[in-house]
Amino acid sequence: MTTLTPILTKNWDQADSFTRAGYERDGGYEALRKAFRMEPDEIVQAVKDSGLRGRGGAGFPTGMKWGFLPPTSPNPRYLVVNADESEPGTCKDIPLMMANPHVLVEGVVISSYAIKSNLAFIYVRGEVLHVIRRLHQAVAEAYEAGYLGKDILGSGYDLDVVVHSGAGAYICGEETALLDSLEGFRGQPRLKPPFPAVAGLYGGPTVINNVESISSVPSIIANGPEWFAAMGTEKSQGFGIFSLSGHVTRPGQYEAPLGITLRELLDMAGGVREGHRLKFWTPGGSSTPIFTDEHLDVPLDFESVGAAGSMLGTRALQIFDETTCVVRAVLRWSEFYAHESCGKCTPCREGTYWYKLMLKRLEAGQGSEEDLETLLDLSDNILGRAFCALGDGATSPVVSSIKLFRDEYLRHFELGACPFDPAKSTLWGGAK
Ligand SMILES: Cc1cc2nc3c(=O)[nH]c(=O)nc-3n(C[C@H](O)[C@H](O)[C@H](O)COP(=O)(O)O)c2cc1C
Ligand code: SF4
Repeated sequence: MTTLTPILTKNWDQADSFTRAGYERDGGYEALRKAFRMEPDEIVQAVKDSGLRGRGGAGFPTGMKWGFLPPTSPNPRYLVVNADESEPGTCKDIPLMMANPHVLVEGVVISSYAIKSNLAFIYVRGEVLHVIRRLHQAVAEAYEAGYLGKDILGSGYDLDVVVHSGAGAYICGEETALLDSLEGFRGQPRLKPPFPAVAGLYGGPTVINNVESISSVPSIIANGPEWFAAMGTEKSQGFGIFSLSGHVTRPGQYEAPLGITLRELLDMAGGVREGHRLKFWTPGGSSTPIFTDEHLDVPLDFESVGAAGSMLGTRALQIFDETTCVVRAVLRWSEFYAHESCGKCTPCREGTYWYKLMLKRLEAGQGSEEDLETLLDLSDNILGRAFCALGDGATSPVVSSIKLFRDEYLRHFELGACPFDPAKSTLWGGAK
C-alpha cells in the first residue's frame, strides 16, 4: 500500500482553500445538505458503520461514543471539539484548521445535528493565534451563508458555534480537564465516571471529539460509510493524517489509509535526511513508546502498532537519525511532562519531577547503571497509578528507551559525558 488518500488535505495547495468559496468550489457543504435529508440517528449509524475511530489518540469508535448519550436529559447536549493539540510531535490539527477550517465547521454542524445538540464549542490551543483567527473567520462566513444559526438551510435545525481559546496547557487536551477549563475553572482532569456523555459540560450530556475525527464526518456522509470502511485495515478503517517531522527529507502531512508503514511513508518523503540513517522514531507522539529501524514495516494501524509494543496515538512520526542522543531526547520530553503535569496526583507530579532530575544527571554522564533500575522502578509507580493518561504517557519514552538503548545510557556513564557532545566524544572526531 503506497497510495496517498488526499481527502482532508486535498485542497491545501489552493490559495483560497481556507475560504468558504474555496471550500464550496470543491463540493464543500454538500454533505451537510445530504445530512439534512437524513434522520439524526441515521447519521450516527453511518458513522458507526464507517468504523471511524477517534483520531485524538485513543482510537475510541466515534459512532459508539455518540450512541452513549442518554436518550433524554433535563440538560442541553453539547458537542465539544478538542483542538488543543499539544502533544510533542503532533502537528496535524493545526495545519488542517489553517488550510481547511470549513471542513471542520461542516463536520461540527453534521455531528451536532446527529447528536441533537444546538450548541457546539471548538476549544483551541491558545498559542496558535493565527489558527484561532482563521476559525473565527470560517465560523463568521458559515453564519453569513446560513450554515450556522437559526433554521440552517431551511432545515428547522438551529446551531451556534463558539470558538474558545485555551491558555496553553497540555493537560487541557485531556477531555475532562478541557471541560473544566471551558467552564472557567483551572484545567484538571475530572474523576470518571460519570463520563462526559452522561455529565459533561455544565453537567449536560457531551460528546468530545478530536478535530480530525469531526472533520472526517462530511466525507463519510458524502461518500457513504462503505467507502470509508473500504480503506485501512479490518479494525482500523479509513484514512488519517500522518505527520512526519524531524530528520526526514520532506517533512509534512501525508494523508493515507491506516495500515501504511513508515517505510512506505519515508519513501514518499524522500527518506531520512541525506547521508544519515534512521535511529529511532515515535509512532504517535512522545507519549507512545519509541520504535527503531526494526519497526519500519509495522502497519500503522491501532492493532499492529499495539502488538509491536507501542501505540498509534496521533500518528506523529518524529524521525531521529544517528546523530541524536536518545538520552537527551528523553530528557527533553521528560522536562515537558514535568512542566505540564497539572499536579493533581502524586505519582505524576513527583514522578515527572524526579525523571527530569535523574535524566539531567544521566545525560551529563554522572549517573550509574543502578539509576536505570531506579528509573524503571519509578516508572512502575507512575504507570497505571496516575489519575490521567498524562502520567502514563510520560513513562513511555523513559521505559522504551532504556529497553532499546540501554547501551547508549551505559556509554554516558563510561565516558562521564554525553557521547554526542562534539567537545567530549570520539564519535564526531571530538577531543576525548
Ligand atoms: C494529557 C492529554 C492531552 C490530550 N490532548 C489532546 C488533544 O490535544 N487533542 C485531542 O483530540 N485529544 C487529546 N487527548 C485525548 C482526549 O482526552 C480525548 O480522548 C479525545 O479528545 C477524544 O477525541 P476522539 O475520540 O475524537 O479521539 C489528550 C489526552 C491527554 C491525557
Ligand atoms: S496524571 Fe499528571 S496531569 Fe494527570 S491528573 Fe495526575 S498530575 Fe495531573
